[in-house]
Amino acid sequence: MKETKSTATYGIIGYPVEHSLSPVLHNTAFKALGVDADYQRFPLKEDEIGDFFLKLREKDCPIFGLNVTVPYKEKVIQYMDSMHPFAQKVMAVNTIVISKDRKLHGFNTDGPGFLAHLAELGIGTKGKRVAILGAGGTARAIVAALCLIPERPESIRIYNRTKEKADYLITDLQGRMNMDIVGSVAAIDDLNVELADLLINTTSLGLKADDPCLIDEGLLHADMSVYDVVYNPSETKLLQLARQKGAKTANGLGMLFYQGVLAFQHWADIELDPEIKSRMRAALEMEASA
Ligand code: ATR
Repeated sequence: MKETKSTATYGIIGYPVEHSLSPVLHNTAFKALGVDADYQRFPLKEDEIGDFFLKLREKDCPIFGLNVTVPYKEKVIQYMDSMHPFAQKVMAVNTIVISKDRKLHGFNTDGPGFLAHLAELGIGTKGKRVAILGAGGTARAIVAALCLIPERPESIRIYNRTKEKADYLITDLQGRMNMDIVGSVAAIDDLNVELADLLINTTSLGLKADDPCLIDEGLLHADMSVYDVVYNPSETKLLQLARQKGAKTANGLGMLFYQGVLAFQHWADIELDPEIKSRMRAALEMEASA
């Protein structure tokens, strides 16, 4: 953390960001560590981004770290002075470290955050058959992470409403990593959910109570794990049906937690101790259920 006379500022940029849970996560950590810093929401419209990044360069700017959310994770890359190798491979930045010399360093903690939550849940990936719904930014980080780890799945199938986007995700990542286990399917039936070991929903479907469940419940089974990145509601229709079939289920609050912890550790250049992390998690869970 930087030693400044004024309160050091951190925050999240995106649009919209008013429902972001990141402030409670990070402000809990600052408080627990006794650091004079504040994490804020910065809702930025497209035409405000350029100016915002110009101001970040000014030497008296109090901002030393940022998270980036939809729709700017790719757009901010042009402003980075350096990129962590994983962010470079994914070509998406969700965490920015601003050094004393006002240089900007881009990271992606979404992929590692997802893997950390899977590890906590005891869900293995090595040799598994993975089915993914969606091909947006979250899917991109998850697919890249799964392709780069030694515990690679046997296969990853992606179904997206707009198939071209799934195809683009694959061809784009292919230039920077081995994607031989990944394919996209045009019809949801071809996801072979009945054979999948791990089904991951990365779409926003499930956020609203009347959202349809894309998966036929007859295909869900007890030998699989179902992960939904949606955490509000805490149990989407997909997770409810999967749980009723005896599948292991989890929502994305854990992924949010771990990506935040990893982001914080990049800013502070320290490893958070378990006591601080559990306070952060408790605060996050309380806010999510409020
Ligand atoms: P994120 O960063 O959270 O992944 P995103 O990049 O906007 O957000 O991606 C949203 C994903 O949810 C996309 O895969 C999107 O499908 P399209 O590529 O076809 O737009 C998917 N999605 C959003 N609303 C959907 C809906 N009503 N039905 C099916 N898929 C939906």
